Amino acid sequence: MFQRLQEGHPVYGNLMGGRWITSQSGKFIDIHSPVDGSLVGKIPAMTQEEVAASIQDTKTHLKEWAAMPVFERANILHRAATLLEERAKELAEILVMEIAKDRKSALSEVTRTADLLRYTADMGKSLEGQAMSGENFPGGSPDKISFVTRVPLGTVLAISPFNYPVNLSASKIGPALIGGNAVLLKPATQGAISALHLAKIIQEAGLPDGILNTVTGRGSQLGDFIVTQEGIDFINFTGSTEVGMRISQLSAMRPLLMELGGKDAAIVLEDADLDFAAENIVSGAYSYSGQRCTAVKRILATDQVADDLVEKLKKRIEALPVGDPRDNAVITPLISERAAESAQELIEDALDKGAKLVTGGQREKNLLTPTLLDFVTAEMDVAWEEPFAPVLPVIRVKDVEDAIQIANRSEYGLQSSVFTHNIDQAFYVARRLEVGTVQINNKTERGPDHFPFLGVKASGMGTQGVRYSIEAMTRPKVIALNLQNP
Ligand code: NAP
Ligand code: G3H
Repeated sequence: MFQRLQEGHPVYGNLMGGRWITSQSGKFIDIHSPVDGSLVGKIPAMTQEEVAASIQDTKTHLKEWAAMPVFERANILHRAATLLEERAKELAEILVMEIAKDRKSALSEVTRTADLLRYTADMGKSLEGQAMSGENFPGGSPDKISFVTRVPLGTVLAISPFNYPVNLSASKIGPALIGGNAVLLKPATQGAISALHLAKIIQEAGLPDGILNTVTGRGSQLGDFIVTQEGIDFINFTGSTEVGMRISQLSAMRPLLMELGGKDAAIVLEDADLDFAAENIVSGAYSYSGQRCTAVKRILATDQVADDLVEKLKKRIEALPVGDPRDNAVITPLISERAAESAQELIEDALDKGAKLVTGGQREKNLLTPTLLDFVTAEMDVAWEEPFAPVLPVIRVKDVEDAIQIANRSEYGLQSSVFTHNIDQAFYVARRLEVGTVQINNKTERGPDHFPFLGVKASGMGTQGVRYSIEAMTRPKVIALNLQNP
């Protein structure tokens, strides 16, 4: 049973060994829509014993899966991509209601995921091993040759966040599967329904039983248990820094790939094209109401341009449609009322300490109007914390050195943007920023999905991006040939 109807609402199961099961405990979690509070569906609250059984189940056919030729594994991912495209509208509607993503972005999340799976399949087929001769090393001999191939790690635990339940589940599952691993997916509770639809599609594409299992349940209840299970050979986590830190403390000796929070800065220098910068910053900061790890989360503008930039930002921000994601509003209700309250607390703290409210700041339940704060200083929490909401602080800086220094004072290091026409200046700044990626004259963003994507400091460890993800979830296997001269 993937899904059955109960009083008109879907009740979902979890995938285990090719079957869709609910919890023997009979417990479910109601998933209500952040859009209007309606019930989107019910997901099982699995018990620890059921989680342990599901992990064990991934071992049943792991050897056959790992031994399957990569082109066959790739065919399954290609079929999954086609099915995703065929069902893109249906899945997008679920995303709209489950996580309040506007329809256009929801559709784009699904089609982008189909592209990602195809690219992953093709990348898997084109990865090659390596042969190395011993003679290249001092004292070595040409009679010693090593053959290096990549082999899977075993069972990958994929934990995904609420904001991209399809894409950030698939970006873990696809590379893990093409590398010959089995996967246990634990999606975010709010977002789980969309992720279960993805799992169903991958199953229908022909994945053998037990190679992708899912478990739903609150991370606060299952998390510590699941990340410490013996049968988990790799943890691929995307989510908050707080949870990521906890996982890294608990997961002793288990390899990790973690993409965590961010406080991406947009640095705007004197010679920047301000209309272009404002356009990019607004799209980077406010799309999906700022609930993206890579959202622009602070502006560092030099004193010479700050007044003009703020004026241009204000005009654009006030034109953003606010409301229902079904009407394609850009600013939609946040994932929870608690999230909106936290963002409002950041706004109030900044205003109490002397920031100027340029626009926004109104909240009704979980809907917060797009907010721009000017004259934000280092004493204000919003200068450093990630709001994950449509709240953007402007920090005015003296010069480029000041901008670099404040940018690097953050505990986070995901991405940064620098807007300038001077390429030498752009490189000067880019080389000094302590982040995974610097975007020159563009908003901060992850894609295209084959680029390496990584955070430094509290923003993560390891590197995502199709090839990098495959490499992270496989290891080299070396077979050394020692020739005897006849
Ligand atoms: P979150 O609260 O950290 O949750 C992420 C996932 O971890 C969910 O599946 C959650 O399950 C699970 N979880 C919760 N507690 C756990 C525990 N103790 N052990 C193991 N798993 C646990 O993050 P979120 O609110 O979904 O997403 C927002 C955050 O993710 C932001 O900080 C954002 O910057 C970050 N993010 C980063 C990236 C990136 O690539 N750098 C991408 C997207 C999001 P439940 O839902 O059941 O609690
Ligand atoms: O939320 C985190 C995502 O990895 C960001 O992806 O830049 O394409 O929105 P995006």
